[in-house]
Amino acid sequence: MASQTVLKKAACVIGGTGFVASLLIKLLLDKGYAVNTTVRDPENQKKVSHLLELQNLGDLKIFRADLTDEGSFDAAISGCDFVFHVATPVHFDSEDPENDMIKPAIQGVLNVLKACKKSKALKRVILTSSAAAVSINKLNGVGLVMDESCWTDVEFLTSEKPPTWGYAASKTLGEKAAWKFAEENQMDLITVSPSLMAGSSLTQDVPSSVCLAMSLLTGNELLINGIKVMQTLSGSISITHVRDVCRAQIFLAEKESASGRYICCHINTSVIELAKFLRERYPQYNVPTEFGDFPKAKLIISSEKLIKEGFSFKYGIKEIYDQSVEYFKSKGLLQN
Ligand SMILES: NC(=O)c1ccc[n+]([C@@H]2O[C@H](COP(=O)([O-])OP(=O)(O)OC[C@H]3O[C@@H](n4cnc5c(N)ncnc54)[C@H](OP(=O)(O)O)[C@@H]3O)[C@@H](O)[C@H]2O)c1
Repeated sequence: MASQTVLKKAACVIGGTGFVASLLIKLLLDKGYAVNTTVRDPENQKKVSHLLELQNLGDLKIFRADLTDEGSFDAAISGCDFVFHVATPVHFDSEDPENDMIKPAIQGVLNVLKACKKSKALKRVILTSSAAAVSINKLNGVGLVMDESCWTDVEFLTSEKPPTWGYAASKTLGEKAAWKFAEENQMDLITVSPSLMAGSSLTQDVPSSVCLAMSLLTGNELLINGIKVMQTLSGSISITHVRDVCRAQIFLAEKESASGRYICCHINTSVIELAKFLRERYPQYNVPTEFGDFPKAKLIISSEKLIKEGFSFKYGIKEIYDQSVEYFKSKGLLQN
């Protein structure tokens, strides 16, 4: 009998050291994909040790590349069916967001897409954008619904410079640059805009987003202030399990009919509602009770398009927090 070789599907994940990217790599390997990933410094043991462990699960190759280095992505992308562009410069404390986040994010998107354009095998690019590219605006009210037609108001961000404005501007302008390039070059691009993510991480460091989501339980004042700033700026506290975001990215890569932007957000709540839920579910921790006249959420970020495409979220608010609490206990960041 003639032997048949079934070629594995191949995917490239840009920025493998990160919270989201490393779980995405694991899920792709679990599905039998051959995976190439790029990191800035393959010699940095602390940042790549979890990737070296993932190599035991399947065919995972690690390449060196930097968002600011045009041409550095060619080798990793070559021959892949899908490219997941997950990396982004994150410097929330930057005094120069223009040079630390906005320019490198846009340049990075274009450098990755230029490498994608050169690759004949490529079927689709999936760019991780953010709800921060969707919901930041000057609208007033309650019960507003943000969908894929909504874009963050960059003029408001750059003129008023609210806290963390540079990150939101970098995500919005990066995504817009990706759409312009894809349209000009007839590329199959999907963008996924997730909300704040929680759950456990494969990385050695605990991700800042999970610390933010857990702030009402850990009592970290700086981060509690951060989550209030988040609601004030974004209009809601919207949370999704990181595993659901990675599942959605793979679902959208594989779903031929998918096209355009997709919001990926499961839970829409507010600081006060979240504190109430956490107080009742975890009475052993000192969740704050006093928020003065802090407002309700003004909007929800809708994942209706993603759900209509056939995706279902697996992790509700209880699972998201139960798993994050266990993760924080395992890291010594919450008491048993
Ligand atoms: N986490 C969330 O709650 C959340 C919510 C919405 C959207 N997102 C989006 O999801 C994506 C992943 O976020 P994350 O939480 O996983 O972030 P993360 O853990 O901070 O990872 C960011 C990644 O970007 C890489 N990177 C930064 N600058 C780079 C450069 N110049 N060249 C190459 N790589 C560079 C980092 O590499 P190094 O390790 O070398 O620094 C790291 O791998 C981002 O696009 C983010 O905007 C995240």
